[in-house]
Amino acid sequence: MRDISNIVILTGAGVSAESGLATFRGPDGLWEGHRVEDICTPQALARDPVLVQTFYDARRAALATVEPNAAHRALARLDAEWTGDLLIVTQNVDDLHERAGAVRMLHMHGELKSALCRRCGGRAPWATDLIDGPACGACGQAGGLRPDIVFFGEMPYQMERIEAALEDADLFVSIGTSGAVYPAAGFVQTARHYGAQTLELNLDPSAGSHFFHETRIGPASQLVVEWVDELLDG
Ligand code: OAD
Repeated sequence: MRDISNIVILTGAGVSAESGLATFRGPDGLWEGHRVEDICTPQALARDPVLVQTFYDARRAALATVEPNAAHRALARLDAEWTGDLLIVTQNVDDLHERAGAVRMLHMHGELKSALCRRCGGRAPWATDLIDGPACGACGQAGGLRPDIVFFGEMPYQMERIEAALEDADLFVSIGTSGAVYPAAGFVQTARHYGAQTLELNLDPSAGSHFFHETRIGPASQLVVEWVDELLDG
């Protein structure tokens, strides 16, 4: 095995589950009572903007009621102490990685705390509700703001940067994601193709578990802390 310098970490809803945020595909297959496909598409927003805006307003407001857990904190510690390259790519739209202190990270599926203007394409930090059709800070037009979330059928953010990091990775680690949504579900194969070791940390084996060199099963709050300790403290 080659020495590890460059690390790419992919996180999903499982990393925030122990903070009290629902995963997308729970035992009932629903996200807070809805099929993700019914709420997370441009068609859903066009068909029923009140439903979609209200839904995301509630998710944004709920962020104030939750805190980062031990897994977020361990990843932030790794980010602070790892001297090689490191990139945390999260599919999560919550802000728990950054609230734990992670810096070398990006939100490939967008963020609840950001708004996207359908009129001018501007993206800006956003902390309150969108249902009342507030004006865009950039173009001044009202009613065009939507959650800055990558809906099904839209292109995830920063794919070029992610692909470049995967090509250079010595270690790729996937944490708390079901492997149901592409392109993120394919990152393990890309990283492996370019020679990375691959590790999965998840409560259940994901759809792509067989692609990983190693899979560890258990809660993120335990597995991530153990893995970070192993990496930093030997
Ligand atoms: P899912 O809900 O599909 O999967 C969550 C994964 O986390 C499952 O594999 C669970 O077994 C695992 N899990 C649950 N609790 C855990 C815990 N305490 N510790 C570790 N693992 C745990 O969520 P994602 O894979 O993140 O996209 O979903 C991917 C994308 O689908 C989301 O980003 C979202 C959705 O459509 C958008 O919103 C654009």
